[in-house]
Amino acid sequence: MAEEMTADGFAPLRIRRVVRETSDAVSLVLDVPEHCMQRFRYQAGQFLTVRVSVDGRDLRRCYSMSSAPAEEELRITVKRDPGGVVSNWINDSAAEGDELRAAPPEGRFVLPKDVSEDEPLVAFAGGSGITPIMSLVRTALSESERPVRLFYANRGRGSVIFSGPLAHLAEQHADRLTVEHHYDEDGGVVTASAVTSFATPAGAGHYYVCGPAPFMDTVEAALLESGVAKQRLHLERFTIAEVPPGVTDDTDEQCEQVVIELDRQKVAAAYRQGETLLQTARQKGLKAPASCETGSCGTCMAKVVEGSARMRINDALDEDEVEEGWVLTCQSLPTSRKVHVVYE
Ligand SMILES: Cc1cc2nc3c(=O)[nH]c(=O)nc-3n(C[C@H](O)[C@H](O)[C@H](O)COP(=O)(O)OP(=O)(O)OC[C@H]3O[C@@H](n4cnc5c(N)ncnc54)[C@H](O)[C@@H]3O)c2cc1C
Ligand code: FES
Repeated sequence: MAEEMTADGFAPLRIRRVVRETSDAVSLVLDVPEHCMQRFRYQAGQFLTVRVSVDGRDLRRCYSMSSAPAEEELRITVKRDPGGVVSNWINDSAAEGDELRAAPPEGRFVLPKDVSEDEPLVAFAGGSGITPIMSLVRTALSESERPVRLFYANRGRGSVIFSGPLAHLAEQHADRLTVEHHYDEDGGVVTASAVTSFATPAGAGHYYVCGPAPFMDTVEAALLESGVAKQRLHLERFTIAEVPPGVTDDTDEQCEQVVIELDRQKVAAAYRQGETLLQTARQKGLKAPASCETGSCGTCMAKVVEGSARMRINDALDEDEVEEGWVLTCQSLPTSRKVHVVYE
Protein backbone atom coordinates (compact mmCIF):
# COMPACT_ATOMS: atom_id res chain seq x y z
CA MET A 1 0.00 0.00 0.00
CA ALA A 2 1.28 3.49 -0.86
CA GLU A 3 2.69 5.35 2.09
CA GLU A 4 0.44 8.19 3.25
CA MET A 5 1.56 11.70 3.97
CA THR A 6 2.87 11.86 7.49
CA ALA A 7 1.13 13.85 10.20
CA ASP A 8 3.48 16.78 9.61
CA GLY A 9 2.38 16.94 5.97
CA PHE A 10 5.42 15.43 4.23
CA ALA A 11 5.00 12.90 1.43
CA PRO A 12 7.54 10.45 -0.02
CA LEU A 13 8.54 11.48 -3.55
CA ARG A 14 10.61 9.05 -5.59
CA ILE A 15 13.57 10.42 -7.55
CA ARG A 16 12.83 9.33 -11.12
CA ARG A 17 15.88 10.97 -12.69
CA VAL A 18 18.94 12.96 -11.69
CA VAL A 19 20.10 15.49 -14.28
CA ARG A 20 23.56 17.04 -13.89
CA GLU A 21 23.01 20.62 -15.10
CA THR A 22 26.47 22.07 -14.34
CA SER A 23 29.36 20.97 -12.13
CA ASP A 24 27.59 22.57 -9.17
CA ALA A 25 23.90 22.17 -9.93
CA VAL A 26 21.66 19.17 -10.28
CA SER A 27 17.98 18.71 -11.17
CA LEU A 28 15.85 16.01 -9.61
CA VAL A 29 12.78 14.78 -11.47
CA LEU A 30 10.35 13.63 -8.79
CA ASP A 31 7.44 11.19 -8.90
CA VAL A 32 4.52 12.17 -6.70
CA PRO A 33 2.52 9.23 -5.31
CA GLU A 34 -0.88 8.87 -6.97
CA HIS A 35 -2.84 9.68 -3.82
CA CYS A 36 -0.91 12.95 -3.26
CA MET A 37 -1.22 14.31 -6.83
CA GLN A 38 -3.93 16.79 -5.95
CA ARG A 39 -1.93 18.29 -3.09
CA PHE A 40 1.20 18.60 -5.21
CA ARG A 41 -0.40 20.70 -7.94
CA TYR A 42 1.54 23.92 -8.13
CA GLN A 43 1.75 27.33 -9.72
CA ALA A 44 4.84 28.47 -11.61
CA GLY A 45 7.27 30.08 -9.16
CA GLN A 46 6.32 27.95 -6.13
CA PHE A 47 8.62 25.71 -4.10
CA LEU A 48 8.64 22.45 -2.15
CA THR A 49 9.99 22.08 1.36
CA VAL A 50 12.24 19.06 1.34
CA ARG A 51 13.14 17.13 4.43
CA VAL A 52 16.31 15.05 4.48
CA SER A 53 18.39 13.29 7.04
CA VAL A 54 22.10 14.08 6.77
CA ASP A 55 24.53 12.59 9.30
CA GLY A 56 21.65 11.88 11.66
CA ARG A 57 20.31 15.44 11.43
CA ASP A 58 16.76 16.06 10.26
CA LEU A 59 16.96 19.11 7.95
CA ARG A 60 14.41 21.08 5.94
CA ARG A 61 15.14 23.26 2.95
CA CYS A 62 13.01 24.92 0.29
CA TYR A 63 13.57 24.23 -3.42
CA SER A 64 11.61 25.88 -6.21
CA MET A 65 10.20 23.96 -9.12
CA SER A 66 12.21 24.58 -12.28
CA SER A 67 9.53 22.75 -14.25
CA ALA A 68 6.35 24.48 -15.35
CA PRO A 69 2.96 23.15 -14.16
CA ALA A 70 2.02 22.29 -17.76
CA GLU A 71 5.02 19.93 -18.06
CA GLU A 72 4.57 16.27 -17.27
CA GLU A 73 7.53 16.17 -14.91
CA LEU A 74 7.89 17.83 -11.55
CA ARG A 75 11.49 18.98 -11.24
CA ILE A 76 13.55 20.88 -8.70
CA THR A 77 17.05 22.22 -9.30
CA VAL A 78 19.60 22.53 -6.53
CA LYS A 79 22.83 24.49 -6.70
CA ARG A 80 25.68 23.83 -4.30
CA ASP A 81 26.00 26.44 -1.57
CA PRO A 82 29.69 26.48 -0.62
CA GLY A 83 29.82 24.91 2.84
CA GLY A 84 26.08 24.17 2.75
CA VAL A 85 24.85 20.84 4.11
CA VAL A 86 21.74 19.91 2.13
CA SER A 87 22.59 21.38 -1.28
CA ASN A 88 25.92 19.51 -1.33
CA TRP A 89 24.32 16.34 -0.04
CA ILE A 90 21.74 16.46 -2.85
CA ASN A 91 24.43 17.19 -5.46
CA ASP A 92 26.68 14.38 -4.24
CA SER A 93 24.31 11.71 -2.97
CA ALA A 94 20.76 11.95 -4.34
CA ALA A 95 20.26 8.97 -6.66
CA GLU A 96 17.60 7.58 -8.93
CA GLY A 97 15.10 5.47 -6.99
CA ASP A 98 15.80 7.22 -3.68
CA GLU A 99 12.95 8.73 -1.74
CA LEU A 100 12.82 12.39 -0.79
CA ARG A 101 10.24 13.62 1.68
CA ALA A 102 8.56 16.86 0.68
CA ALA A 103 5.72 19.08 1.83
CA PRO A 104 3.26 20.28 -0.82
CA PRO A 105 4.04 23.36 -2.94
CA GLU A 106 3.84 26.81 -1.37
CA GLY A 107 4.88 30.30 -2.23
CA ARG A 108 3.65 33.61 -3.51
CA PHE A 109 6.26 34.28 -6.21
CA VAL A 110 3.66 33.54 -8.85
CA LEU A 111 2.16 35.14 -11.93
CA PRO A 112 -0.60 37.67 -11.22
CA LYS A 113 -4.10 36.75 -12.28
CA ASP A 114 -5.87 38.83 -14.91
CA VAL A 115 -2.77 40.38 -16.36
CA SER A 116 -3.22 41.90 -19.80
CA GLU A 117 -1.45 40.41 -22.80
CA ASP A 118 0.52 43.56 -23.50
CA GLU A 119 2.13 43.72 -20.05
CA PRO A 120 5.59 42.16 -20.34
CA LEU A 121 7.07 39.76 -17.82
CA VAL A 122 10.54 41.03 -16.95
CA ALA A 123 12.72 38.65 -14.97
CA PHE A 124 16.11 39.12 -13.32
CA ALA A 125 17.79 35.89 -12.22
CA GLY A 126 21.16 35.42 -10.56
CA GLY A 127 22.75 31.95 -10.29
CA SER A 128 20.33 29.42 -8.76
CA GLY A 129 17.62 32.12 -8.84
CA ILE A 130 16.91 30.95 -12.39
CA THR A 131 14.98 27.98 -10.93
CA PRO A 132 11.56 29.57 -10.21
CA ILE A 133 12.11 32.06 -13.02
CA MET A 134 12.51 29.27 -15.56
CA SER A 135 9.10 28.01 -14.48
CA LEU A 136 7.56 31.50 -14.74
CA VAL A 137 9.13 32.17 -18.14
CA ARG A 138 8.01 28.82 -19.59
CA THR A 139 4.50 29.35 -18.27
CA ALA A 140 4.17 32.92 -19.56
CA LEU A 141 5.37 31.75 -22.99
CA SER A 142 3.08 28.74 -23.20
CA GLU A 143 -0.05 30.20 -21.62
CA SER A 144 -0.06 33.79 -22.83
CA GLU A 145 1.08 36.04 -25.63
CA ARG A 146 2.97 38.34 -23.27
CA PRO A 147 6.43 39.58 -24.20
CA VAL A 148 9.06 38.08 -21.87
CA ARG A 149 12.46 39.58 -21.04
CA LEU A 150 15.02 37.64 -19.01
CA PHE A 151 18.26 39.07 -17.63
CA TYR A 152 20.38 36.20 -16.26
CA ALA A 153 23.55 36.90 -14.29
CA ASN A 154 26.26 34.35 -13.50
CA ARG A 155 29.87 34.45 -12.35
CA GLY A 156 31.01 32.81 -15.57
CA ARG A 157 29.84 30.83 -18.58
CA GLY A 158 30.49 27.51 -16.82
CA SER A 159 27.88 28.17 -14.15
CA VAL A 160 24.89 28.92 -16.40
CA ILE A 161 22.08 26.50 -15.56
CA PHE A 162 19.62 25.77 -18.41
CA SER A 163 21.74 27.42 -21.12
CA GLY A 164 20.53 24.85 -23.69
CA PRO A 165 16.80 25.05 -22.85
CA LEU A 166 16.98 28.87 -22.74
CA ALA A 167 18.63 29.06 -26.15
CA HIS A 168 15.96 26.72 -27.48
CA LEU A 169 13.12 28.81 -26.00
CA ALA A 170 14.66 31.99 -27.42
CA GLU A 171 14.69 30.39 -30.85
CA GLN A 172 11.13 29.08 -30.54
CA HIS A 173 9.78 32.43 -29.32
CA ALA A 174 12.12 34.82 -31.15
CA ASP A 175 9.29 37.32 -31.58
CA ARG A 176 8.67 37.82 -27.85
CA LEU A 177 11.43 36.32 -25.69
CA THR A 178 14.61 38.30 -25.08
CA VAL A 179 17.37 36.66 -23.05
CA GLU A 180 20.40 38.69 -21.97
CA HIS A 181 23.24 36.92 -20.19
CA HIS A 182 25.58 38.76 -17.85
CA TYR A 183 28.92 37.26 -16.83
CA ASP A 184 30.79 38.75 -13.90
CA GLU A 185 34.03 37.34 -15.38
CA ASP A 186 33.73 39.81 -18.27
CA GLY A 187 33.62 43.04 -16.31
CA GLY A 188 32.32 42.71 -12.78
CA VAL A 189 28.97 42.30 -11.07
CA VAL A 190 25.63 43.62 -12.28
CA THR A 191 25.28 47.39 -11.93
CA ALA A 192 22.19 49.57 -11.48
CA SER A 193 22.65 51.03 -14.94
CA ALA A 194 22.67 47.56 -16.54
CA VAL A 195 19.40 46.81 -14.74
CA THR A 196 17.79 50.07 -15.82
CA SER A 197 18.78 49.76 -19.45
CA PHE A 198 17.40 46.22 -19.59
CA ALA A 199 14.15 47.18 -17.83
CA THR A 200 13.38 50.46 -19.60
CA PRO A 201 12.11 49.07 -22.93
CA ALA A 202 9.59 46.91 -21.02
CA GLY A 203 7.67 49.82 -19.46
CA ALA A 204 4.76 48.85 -17.20
CA GLY A 205 5.33 45.14 -16.87
CA HIS A 206 5.57 42.77 -13.92
CA TYR A 207 9.08 42.35 -12.57
CA TYR A 208 10.41 39.15 -10.95
CA VAL A 209 13.75 39.03 -9.16
CA CYS A 210 15.52 36.01 -7.63
CA GLY A 211 19.19 35.46 -6.88
CA PRO A 212 21.91 36.09 -4.31
CA ALA A 213 21.16 38.86 -1.78
CA PRO A 214 23.55 41.53 -3.17
CA PHE A 215 22.23 40.93 -6.70
CA MET A 216 18.64 41.25 -5.49
CA ASP A 217 19.41 44.43 -3.57
CA THR A 218 20.98 46.05 -6.66
CA VAL A 219 18.12 45.04 -8.94
CA GLU A 220 15.38 46.00 -6.49
CA ALA A 221 16.88 49.44 -5.80
CA ALA A 222 17.48 50.15 -9.50
CA LEU A 223 13.95 49.13 -10.50
CA LEU A 224 12.32 51.21 -7.78
CA GLU A 225 14.57 54.14 -8.64
CA SER A 226 13.56 53.88 -12.30
CA GLY A 227 9.90 54.13 -11.35
CA VAL A 228 8.70 50.50 -11.20
CA ALA A 229 5.70 50.39 -8.84
CA LYS A 230 6.21 48.25 -5.72
CA GLN A 231 3.14 46.12 -6.42
CA ARG A 232 4.65 45.16 -9.77
CA LEU A 233 7.90 44.02 -8.21
CA HIS A 234 8.01 40.39 -7.05
CA LEU A 235 10.99 39.20 -5.01
CA GLU A 236 11.96 35.67 -3.95
CA ARG A 237 14.81 35.51 -1.46
CA PHE A 238 16.60 32.18 -1.09
CA THR A 239 18.92 33.28 1.65
CA ILE A 240 18.03 34.02 5.21
CA ALA A 241 18.42 37.69 6.02
CA GLU A 242 20.59 38.65 8.95
CA VAL A 243 18.59 39.51 12.03
CA PRO A 244 18.63 43.33 11.99
CA PRO A 245 20.76 44.89 14.73
CA GLY A 246 18.82 45.68 17.88
CA VAL A 247 16.26 42.93 17.33
CA THR A 248 16.67 40.53 20.19
CA ASP A 249 14.54 37.76 21.55
CA ASP A 250 13.52 39.92 24.50
CA THR A 251 9.99 41.12 24.28
CA ASP A 252 9.25 44.80 24.96
CA GLU A 253 6.56 43.99 27.45
CA GLN A 254 6.03 40.76 29.34
CA CYS A 255 3.38 38.88 27.35
CA GLU A 256 1.01 36.74 29.39
CA GLN A 257 -1.45 35.29 26.97
CA VAL A 258 -1.60 34.35 23.29
CA VAL A 259 -4.95 33.60 21.68
CA ILE A 260 -4.77 31.69 18.39
CA GLU A 261 -7.55 31.02 15.91
CA LEU A 262 -6.99 28.33 13.29
CA ASP A 263 -9.45 26.17 11.36
CA ARG A 264 -12.42 27.27 13.47
CA GLN A 265 -10.54 26.38 16.64
CA LYS A 266 -9.74 29.08 19.17
CA VAL A 267 -7.21 28.38 21.90
CA ALA A 268 -5.67 30.52 24.61
CA ALA A 269 -2.11 29.76 25.73
CA ALA A 270 0.01 31.07 28.55
CA TYR A 271 2.98 32.66 26.78
CA ARG A 272 6.43 31.19 27.39
CA GLN A 273 9.20 33.77 27.14
CA GLY A 274 11.22 33.61 23.89
CA GLU A 275 8.77 31.44 21.95
CA THR A 276 7.53 32.50 18.54
CA LEU A 277 3.80 32.58 17.86
CA LEU A 278 4.25 29.48 15.70
CA GLN A 279 5.93 27.62 18.57
CA THR A 280 3.13 28.68 20.91
CA ALA A 281 0.53 27.37 18.45
CA ARG A 282 2.34 24.05 18.16
CA GLN A 283 2.73 23.81 21.86
CA LYS A 284 -1.07 23.91 22.11
CA GLY A 285 -1.30 21.05 19.62
CA LEU A 286 -2.43 23.19 16.67
CA LYS A 287 -1.25 22.15 13.20
CA ALA A 288 -0.27 25.67 12.23
CA PRO A 289 0.93 26.03 8.63
CA ALA A 290 4.68 26.49 8.18
CA SER A 291 7.31 25.61 5.66
CA CYS A 292 10.72 27.30 5.56
CA GLU A 293 10.66 28.59 9.16
CA THR A 294 13.20 31.20 8.13
CA GLY A 295 10.88 34.12 7.32
CA SER A 296 11.19 33.59 3.56
CA CYS A 297 8.09 31.85 2.28
CA GLY A 298 5.00 33.38 3.90
CA THR A 299 3.32 30.01 4.56
CA CYS A 300 2.95 30.73 8.27
CA MET A 301 1.31 34.14 7.94
CA ALA A 302 -1.50 35.12 10.31
CA LYS A 303 -3.17 38.38 11.26
CA VAL A 304 -2.71 40.06 14.63
CA VAL A 305 -6.20 41.28 15.56
CA GLU A 306 -5.37 42.37 19.11
CA GLY A 307 -2.09 43.40 20.72
CA SER A 308 1.17 43.43 18.81
CA ALA A 309 4.12 41.30 17.77
CA ARG A 310 7.36 41.94 15.98
CA MET A 311 9.15 39.86 13.38
CA ARG A 312 12.82 38.99 13.73
CA ILE A 313 13.06 38.46 9.96
CA ASN A 314 10.57 39.31 7.25
CA ASP A 315 11.48 38.38 3.71
CA ALA A 316 7.97 37.49 2.64
CA LEU A 317 5.42 40.19 3.53
CA ASP A 318 5.25 43.60 1.93
CA GLU A 319 4.78 46.86 3.81
CA ASP A 320 1.03 47.02 3.15
CA GLU A 321 0.50 43.54 4.57
CA VAL A 322 2.52 44.38 7.67
CA GLU A 323 0.46 47.53 8.11
CA GLU A 324 -2.72 45.49 7.90
CA GLY A 325 -1.46 43.40 10.81
CA TRP A 326 -0.10 40.34 9.00
CA VAL A 327 2.90 38.65 10.58
CA LEU A 328 5.06 35.63 9.87
CA THR A 329 4.31 33.56 12.93
CA CYS A 330 7.58 31.60 12.62
CA GLN A 331 9.43 34.87 13.24
CA SER A 332 7.03 36.72 15.56
CA LEU A 333 7.51 37.52 19.22
CA PRO A 334 4.73 39.20 21.20
CA THR A 335 5.28 42.81 22.23
CA SER A 336 2.11 43.34 24.26
CA ARG A 337 0.57 41.76 27.32
CA LYS A 338 -1.99 39.89 25.24
CA VAL A 339 -1.78 38.92 21.56
CA HIS A 340 -4.60 37.49 19.47
CA VAL A 341 -3.73 36.05 16.05
CA VAL A 342 -5.95 34.58 13.38
CA TYR A 343 -4.76 32.23 10.63
CA GLU A 344 -6.85 32.68 7.46
C1 LIG B 1 11.55 29.92 -0.97
C2 LIG B 1 12.94 29.35 -1.25
C3 LIG B 1 13.18 28.69 -2.46
C4 LIG B 1 14.46 28.19 -2.74
N1 LIG B 1 14.70 27.57 -3.93
C5 LIG B 1 15.93 27.11 -4.23
C6 LIG B 1 16.21 26.48 -5.50
O1 LIG B 1 15.33 26.33 -6.34
N2 LIG B 1 17.46 26.04 -5.73
C7 LIG B 1 18.47 26.18 -4.83
O2 LIG B 1 19.60 25.74 -5.10
N3 LIG B 1 18.24 26.76 -3.62
C8 LIG B 1 17.00 27.22 -3.29
N4 LIG B 1 16.77 27.79 -2.07
C9 LIG B 1 17.85 27.82 -1.06
C10 LIG B 1 17.83 26.51 -0.30
O3 LIG B 1 16.62 26.38 0.44
C11 LIG B 1 18.96 26.39 0.72
O4 LIG B 1 18.96 27.53 1.54
C12 LIG B 1 20.33 26.24 0.05
O5 LIG B 1 20.35 25.07 -0.77
C13 LIG B 1 21.43 26.12 1.11
O6 LIG B 1 21.15 25.04 1.95
P1 LIG B 1 22.33 24.14 2.55
O7 LIG B 1 21.75 23.18 3.50
O8 LIG B 1 23.18 23.60 1.46
O9 LIG B 1 23.20 25.22 3.28
P2 LIG B 1 23.26 25.48 4.88
O10 LIG B 1 23.91 24.34 5.53
O11 LIG B 1 21.93 25.92 5.33
O12 LIG B 1 24.26 26.70 4.87
C14 LIG B 1 23.94 27.91 4.15
C15 LIG B 1 25.16 28.81 4.14
O13 LIG B 1 25.46 29.22 5.47
C16 LIG B 1 26.79 28.88 5.77
N5 LIG B 1 26.81 28.41 7.18
C17 LIG B 1 26.15 27.34 7.66
N6 LIG B 1 26.37 27.22 8.98
C18 LIG B 1 27.19 28.27 9.32
C19 LIG B 1 27.76 28.71 10.52
N7 LIG B 1 27.56 28.06 11.66
N8 LIG B 1 28.52 29.82 10.48
C20 LIG B 1 28.73 30.48 9.34
N9 LIG B 1 28.20 30.10 8.16
C21 LIG B 1 27.45 29.02 8.16
C22 LIG B 1 27.22 27.79 4.82
O14 LIG B 1 28.60 27.83 4.56
C23 LIG B 1 26.43 28.16 3.60
O15 LIG B 1 27.12 29.10 2.81
C24 LIG B 1 15.50 28.32 -1.79
C25 LIG B 1 15.23 28.96 -0.56
C26 LIG B 1 13.98 29.47 -0.30
C27 LIG B 1 13.71 30.14 1.03
S1 FES C 1 7.32 29.28 7.58
FE1 FES C 1 8.18 30.35 5.87
S2 FES C 1 8.01 32.43 6.54
FE2 FES C 1 7.33 31.32 8.23
